[in-house]
This record gives sequence, C-alpha cells and structure tokens, in this order.
Amino acid sequence: MAGMLEGKTALITGAGRGIGRAAALLFSAEGARVAVADQMAEGAAETVALINKAGGQALAITADVTKPGEVASMVSAAVSAFGRLDCAFNNAGIAGYQVGGAGKKTAEWPEEAFDRMIAVNLKGVWLCMRAELE
Ligand SMILES: NC(=O)c1ccc[n+]([C@@H]2O[C@H](COP(=O)([O-])OP(=O)(O)OC[C@H]3O[C@@H](n4cnc5c(N)ncnc54)[C@H](O)[C@@H]3O)[C@@H](O)[C@H]2O)c1
Repeated sequence: MAGMLEGKTALITGAGRGIGRAAALLFSAEGARVAVADQMAEGAAETVALINKAGGQALAITADVTKPGEVASMVSAAVSAFGRLDCAFNNAGIAGYQVGGAGKKTAEWPEEAFDRMIAVNLKGVWLCMRAELE
C-alpha cells in the first residue's frame, strides 16, 4: 500500500461487517490507526482482530449512532486512545428490508419503518458529524 494515511487516525461507524469492515481494513493498510465502531460489539471486535493480525492498530467501540450520548462517548474514546481524529467514514446504515420495507411501495411503508430509516441513515450521520467536527 502507499501509506496514504500514515500517522492519521480514522473513525468508521458500522465497521463490524460489510463495507465498514472492508474500509477499516483498507484505512489500516494505508497506515491509519482505526476506531472501529458498531452497535454489534462482536463484529467490531472481529474487525479489530483482523486489523491486528495484519499488523495494524485499532480500537473497538460499541455505539448506536442514533443515540447522542453513545455517539459522544464513541468520539471521546477514539480521541482518548489516539490523541486526535483526522478522518471519519459515517458508514453505519440500514436498508429498507431491515425495517420491514422489502417489496413495499412508498405508500405501503409503516411510519415506524420510515422513522427508523431517517433516525439511522440521516440523523445518525449528522449526530456523528457533529461530534467528530468538534
Ligand atoms: N451493500 C450495498 O450494496 C449498499 C448499497 C447502497 C448503500 N449501502 C449502504 O452502505 C452502508 C453499509 O452497507 P453494508 O452492505 O456494509 O451493510 P451491513 O448491513 O452489512 O453493515 C452495516 C453495519 O452497520 C451497523 N449498524 C447498523 N445500524 C447501526 C446503528 N444504529 N449504530 C451503529 N451501527 C449500526 C450494523 O451493525 C452493521 O455492522 C449502509 O449504510 C448501507 O445502507 C450499501
């Protein structure tokens, strides 16, 4: 790798699997120390184990991005561990099928499903950005 992120730190949400995990491994391979955040503690720990095995440095953080207190603690934990925060990838998100919307037309969606999508995919990203920018 090119060492593009040498000396940098990164926080990635939803990094317990999927795209977030792949990004965490790539950020680490580029030299970043990575805060691996997810609401699933086990997934975050597995990602950290993969990074450590590859010779990188990472920290697992359990946090739900819809909860402002957990988001604040997540960012504090990353800054405490690494002394700074340079990059963030606010990747945690859900798809329609995860809230019972699979195959449903717009007018058929339950209101609670719509609210949950907005809470995670929109407000969750803003809550993270607000804390990270501070
Ligand atoms: N995979 C695709 O084809 C695709 C396409 C378009 C958009 N996306 C979006 O990209 C992102 C990642 O996709 P993926 O396929 O890796 O998804 P995924 O479901 O495999 O992984 C998402 C991760 O986010 C975590 N997460 C979900 N809600 C959370 C919350 N409230 N707080 C903290 N963590 C939470 C989950 O625990 C999971 O580890 C999602 O936002 C998804 O909607 C994915």
